[in-house]
Amino acid sequence: MRPAWDEGVVQKDPSLFADVPTSPEDIELDDRLMAGLGHGCRGLFITFEGLDGTGKSTQMELLAERLRAAGHSLVTTREPGGTALGEAVREALLAKGEGEHEMDPKAEAFLYTAARVQLVEEVIRPALEAGEIVLCDRYIDSSLAYQGYGRELGYENIISMNMWAVDGLLPDLTLVMLAPEAVRRRRLSGAEADRLESSGDDFFRRVEDGYRRLVADHPYRIRAVDAGGDVHEVGDRVLEVLREELDLDLAPQSR
Ligand code: TYD
Repeated sequence: MRPAWDEGVVQKDPSLFADVPTSPEDIELDDRLMAGLGHGCRGLFITFEGLDGTGKSTQMELLAERLRAAGHSLVTTREPGGTALGEAVREALLAKGEGEHEMDPKAEAFLYTAARVQLVEEVIRPALEAGEIVLCDRYIDSSLAYQGYGRELGYENIISMNMWAVDGLLPDLTLVMLAPEAVRRRRLSGAEADRLESSGDDFFRRVEDGYRRLVADHPYRIRAVDAGGDVHEVGDRVLEVLREELDLDLAPQSR
């Protein structure tokens, strides 16, 4: 059986959309509008989110392997980066300058957004239009969590600039990996911290709280995944969410 999204329709309960506003004046940034209706393409767009050390990149790679093994055509990419411009911006964003002025939070927000625009137009939208599955390591929700909540620029400012920047292209499904601080620290130990990772504990608490708020406020698009435990156990939790949300059935990894 072809999965529902292959027909251009993400399988979700239609009653969820019954009172979604239809006149342009009424259209607010409603979660139901954003849940899988955002890009209007045949493909499927899934993003991975979470604090550093939650294992989201590993989980994304594992899922990519599972999808490829099941015969799906897919594109994997990451933010910031994924294009020549994006990689240049990434260097500017993550470099720890010595004796320089600190990067202004708004400048930071615009740089992440600029890299995102390039990635969407060069890679993500064309792949979705071609009917492919796109897996992206971080997307708009990183800006909402890190710049909106972490840097305290505000949800509204960040969502507005981003929705304008990417012409409303939102994921069908976003997985937020959540792991206790001790687990994250253990997974990160040894690696040298970049500029973002060198921000203080208060910043990361705000980012983590931000992710939790995003999960609570966007139940139709965002799902939290318990990222504690063995990598294949977490992988199976990811597959369970895909089954529930997208009717995408893949065999478990841990057995
Ligand atoms: P990276 O080394 O890719 O971290 P990770 O492996 O955890 O994804 O660095 C990306 C950093 O940029 C990470 O600390 C999160 C941050 N970030 C933002 O602050 N805003 C954004 O919009 C994005 C995409 C990333």
